[in-house]
Amino acid sequence: MCECSYSYEDYRETADWLLAHTEKRPKVAIICGSGLGGLAELLEDKNAFPYEDIPRFPTSTVQGHAGRLVFGRLQGCECVCMQGRFHFYEGYNTHTVTYPVRVFFLLGVETLIVTNAAGGLNEAYSVGDIMLIKDHINMPGFAGQNPLCGHNDERFGVRFPCMSDAYDRELRALARTAAQEQGCDGFLQEGVYCMLAGPTYETIAECRVLQTLGADAVGMSTVPEVVVARHCGLRVLGLSLITNKVVLDYESRERANHAEVLQTTELRAQDLQRLVSHLVSQL
Ligand code: 6GU
Repeated sequence: MCECSYSYEDYRETADWLLAHTEKRPKVAIICGSGLGGLAELLEDKNAFPYEDIPRFPTSTVQGHAGRLVFGRLQGCECVCMQGRFHFYEGYNTHTVTYPVRVFFLLGVETLIVTNAAGGLNEAYSVGDIMLIKDHINMPGFAGQNPLCGHNDERFGVRFPCMSDAYDRELRALARTAAQEQGCDGFLQEGVYCMLAGPTYETIAECRVLQTLGADAVGMSTVPEVVVARHCGLRVLGLSLITNKVVLDYESRERANHAEVLQTTELRAQDLQRLVSHLVSQL
């Protein structure tokens, strides 16, 4: 058995500690992507726990990620927010990246909302668009990095889980309506998210490959968490903020860079927060 994975008792210990330290019993968990942690600040009646204070919880390293779990009410809905997530490119294995999701399950969470920043592959997309994720391509999974590799604990889910309905149809319909009501429908897209391990951005040739494969957006997160969430039966909604357009042309002088990603995130963070807040109020 791989020593870099966890036992049921590890997740249980973390969940029990949290249940003993907060009276909140959230039904919704939200994983905030880079620069999108502002959502956690909107929670009312907050209980926040820095990751380093939570037994067995991983700790985060990236700038722009606060690294805490925030419990509270968003538009009347009891939520728990991850302010700062764990990325494969930071050197965490897939079990560590997805550790919080199983803790959410043991807390009694039923719905997972994930947000991320992504590069736009679809030519029809613009910087600043919000893409509802309708499906994903698990590229690290193709290469043997699936978080469900290893021993399967039936208390979480089945050995061979189905992924065809990973992104809940009803939640997507709800999100489209919420976008209309919040005036976000002018920049709402729906498409396929492809995860790469990172931390390098894609080469031009790689971007062309991903387009050919049917991906509309590319990023470095989300998919492991969604796989683990679906395994244990959580309903999932995924939202990608298109922070930049990928470079597809050898003549182009444009370069993918983290500064542009952060700049767009700042531009649209409020809209995304409004959309998610409105959405959870309808759950
Ligand atoms: Cl262009 N690529 C990847 N892999 N992740 C991103 C991105 C691009 N833009 C934001 N995140």
